[in-house]
Amino acid sequence: MDKIEQSTQRYEAVIRLALERGFFNPASEIYGDAPAGFWDYGPLGASLKRKFIELWRRELVRRDGMLEIDGAQVLSKNVFTASGHLKSFVDPIARCSRCRAVYRVDKLIEESVGIHVPERLDLDKIEKLVLENNIRCSKCGGELTDFSYFNMMFKLNVGATDVDAYLRPETCQSIFVDFIRLFKVMRCKLPIGFAQVGKSFRNEISPRQGLIRMREFYQAEIEVFFNPRKADELPKAEPLMDYTLRLKPLNSEEIIEIACREALGEKLLSSKLVAYYLALIQQFYEKAGIPREKIRLRQLGEDERAFYAVEAWDLEVETSLGWIELVACNNRGDYDLSGHQEVSGHEMTVQDDGEKVLPHVFELSMGIDRSIYCIIESALSNIGGRKVLRLNPELAPVHVAVLPLISREPFITRAKQIYDLLRLDYDVVYDDSGSIGRRYARQDEIGTPYCITVDHQTFEDDTVTIRYRDTTHQIRIETSKLLEFLSKNFRIS
Ligand code: ATP
Ligand code: GLY
Repeated sequence: MDKIEQSTQRYEAVIRLALERGFFNPASEIYGDAPAGFWDYGPLGASLKRKFIELWRRELVRRDGMLEIDGAQVLSKNVFTASGHLKSFVDPIARCSRCRAVYRVDKLIEESVGIHVPERLDLDKIEKLVLENNIRCSKCGGELTDFSYFNMMFKLNVGATDVDAYLRPETCQSIFVDFIRLFKVMRCKLPIGFAQVGKSFRNEISPRQGLIRMREFYQAEIEVFFNPRKADELPKAEPLMDYTLRLKPLNSEEIIEIACREALGEKLLSSKLVAYYLALIQQFYEKAGIPREKIRLRQLGEDERAFYAVEAWDLEVETSLGWIELVACNNRGDYDLSGHQEVSGHEMTVQDDGEKVLPHVFELSMGIDRSIYCIIESALSNIGGRKVLRLNPELAPVHVAVLPLISREPFITRAKQIYDLLRLDYDVVYDDSGSIGRRYARQDEIGTPYCITVDHQTFEDDTVTIRYRDTTHQIRIETSKLLEFLSKNFRIS
């Protein structure tokens, strides 16, 4: 089997598992006119996503003492005038003169002839590249025409008077707009991080690859406000300065493993604050179960960075689809606060030890859906012929399954009692259909770390077996100790 075939199979295995076991499926799927790029999470996917977000809260938000907000998804037009999205959140497109197919033309050039098109290249230069390289419609071979910029925001007309507004294309704008109020009412001091998790919307021209490029997706964003003169004064960063980052700096073909302290010494990173947050985010993905060697932090050049970023590192994970960006780590400077200050007329400066400062922002902008895809793909395993989803147990959609060894009384009643005992605090399933081997296999496939089985001995000494997913090893435990066992293995949030 060649590499491409193997990759396709891994991607298809994730999609099959997702569809057949209730992780995720296309939205509006029973209708033929369903637009691409919208997905529904089923019970297992929703549970995995919830636990992933909880891990993010614990490892980043709470660990760092950040404050989490929950902003509106519809924001005024002025917000996006100030943020630059109305003008700059655009992709270049072209249309086939024959079949009218529309292409994101920078990607078409890259895919057809392998030329990288910089983020903000002028439209006439893009058109020139198409002509020089004789790039045509991939469907019918027609000539490309109508080159233009397409704004990726969804526009809304709100209320009966049609007030212009937009669905947010990134969650963080409400953090910037509300910054002064939040800073004051929460009695903050710089540096301070604000976090938000929620939906973002982008009218992508060609949504594809399942959860990788969607039109409606979840982001978990962190915006750290800091005094730019003090980005190297961060005592809380010290314990992480010996942590080894996997950096792929500009002009390096290789990933280099380097401690934060050394990376700063070699001027690969602009400040201690940046080093600290890159370390936190890399560590987070390792804890989420992505193998370390599949993670890299790739530095973006000026021609690849978003319009608001002065320094950018993408946290990427290697999958069967190639390296995928999961988190944009952007130094946004004072781009946003000065934009909102100018357009709204509200002053955005704060006091920092007697100094009046317009804070700078470093952000960790995480895509949750892409992360979920990567976590599932990297957990797909075959252990001695068994299909096992080797998720970090804390992320497993089902914590524990309760199974009667034999599907008849009194096994069923006792198993259901245990299920009732556990299910208020844990994600538990009860299953009595099919052979015990088939039931274990079903749980292995969805990543359930433990199966509790009621067997003959249960009626002699009130013990049950606990079977471990990865080894199939079993232990016996008294039923009165089950809650204690689970509380040692899972944190309840
Ligand atoms: P790409 O280059 O892949 O289009 P991007 O650079 O536009 O991504 P950002 O604007 O930096 O992405 O968004 C921050 C994060 O949000 C990304 O790292 C990704 O995880 C997630 N994200 C962005 N666009 C999408 C999308 N269309 N579908 C799913 N997740 C997305
Ligand atoms: N907030 C950064 C982004 O969505 O790209």
